[in-house]
Amino acid sequence: MQTLTNKRILLGITGGIAAYKAAELVRRFQDQGAEVQVVMTKGATEFITPLTLQALSNHPVHLDLLNTETESAMGHIELARWADLIIVAPATADFIARMALGRGDDLLTTLCLAAECRIAIAPAMNQAMWAKQATQENCQHLLDRNISIFGPEEGLQACGETGVGRLLDIDEIVIEAASLFSSNLLTGVKVLITAGPTREAIDPVRYISNHSSGKQGFALAQAALEAGAIVTLVSGPTNLDPPDRATLVPIISATQMYDAVMAEVADTDIFIGVAAVADYRPAKVQTQKIKKNPAASNKSMTLDLVENPDIIAAVANSEKRPFTVGFAAETDHLIEYARKKLEQKNLDVIVANNVADTAIGFNSDNNQTTVLWENHVEELPMMSKSNISIRIIELISERFNLASQ
Ligand SMILES: Cc1cc2nc3c(=O)[nH]c(=O)nc-3n(C[C@H](O)[C@H](O)[C@H](O)COP(=O)(O)O)c2cc1C
Repeated sequence: MQTLTNKRILLGITGGIAAYKAAELVRRFQDQGAEVQVVMTKGATEFITPLTLQALSNHPVHLDLLNTETESAMGHIELARWADLIIVAPATADFIARMALGRGDDLLTTLCLAAECRIAIAPAMNQAMWAKQATQENCQHLLDRNISIFGPEEGLQACGETGVGRLLDIDEIVIEAASLFSSNLLTGVKVLITAGPTREAIDPVRYISNHSSGKQGFALAQAALEAGAIVTLVSGPTNLDPPDRATLVPIISATQMYDAVMAEVADTDIFIGVAAVADYRPAKVQTQKIKKNPAASNKSMTLDLVENPDIIAAVANSEKRPFTVGFAAETDHLIEYARKKLEQKNLDVIVANNVADTAIGFNSDNNQTTVLWENHVEELPMMSKSNISIRIIELISERFNLASQ
């Protein structure tokens, strides 16, 4: 089983002798299902060529901060948002010192400052440099800021000395990186998630649907699995591969989704309704393709629609009610409409996002959401759908654990 499926890793390489090992690290991350982009300091390019890293990562290597061309391609803020994890391996003593000071004097330090995702470093240096009080204090500053430090390990060093300072074994770095994405927040908890659009048939060849890609629901399923949950994913048609360990229940229409959800709900601890369910469906599905009617005097046709069942309200009001989380995709009055939905549908938590903004929402890889419950509003910064899902699952598990006490 791959441990970093769909994760986006930004690998920072700094100017130490162990920089050559970063080439193999790119491969190992990819073997575990991650997409990797590389950022190199100027020092790092003296030890290994960007061309090698470009060929291995299948992406241009990012080198400069103050470069108009690269800023217009994928600017530093965009790159920081792209990442689910920034890992600097090897991290030199100098880089650690600059990071501890909060400097942004090159692309890599600036990305670390701009990033909202997890950051980890794998230091590698001469044993005396590692043991120096300055380096140790700098590392402590980073730990205090929730930055993970992998290694270093003890052994024979490139300089001929023996001691602590070697880059942690790269297989260990991959294991530690994967462990950053997993928690035990929902161990054994049964989570039912709906995702994607529904399709409401008009005739054998046409349907009414919407632009939902399913990305957010699938990312939440992945995040719930990584938190230890047992996940069932009821999904409308999407182009996505379901997460490895989720039980997928594929459906087409809103009524099929309703039936699939209601069959599971009594055996569910947490329900998360992310699917963009059609509110209405054609009153009658024509058995034959509807023909154009050139004789129609007003050049129009009328389609009679009837309301679909309200899945989330049915779940929230079911006899053995699970902890119920809804999503509100709105184009205006986001918080106001979301709070109304929270109350009217008897939900525990609602996650609101603005789908009018094309940089986020439907089909985009990023999202910016606001999570609401009781009297609380928590605005999450713009992040990848994968990272935002981890934050949402953390918030849901907190609320769920409080509610089940
Ligand atoms: C041959 C050589 C090997 C080096 N190896 C290391 C090393 O393993 N770890 C380290 O912290 N610094 C090492 N340095 C020093 C760094 O290259 C130097 O501090 C540089 O400013 C780091 O810049 P960067 O962190 O921006 O890449 C080495 C320098 C040389 C010349």
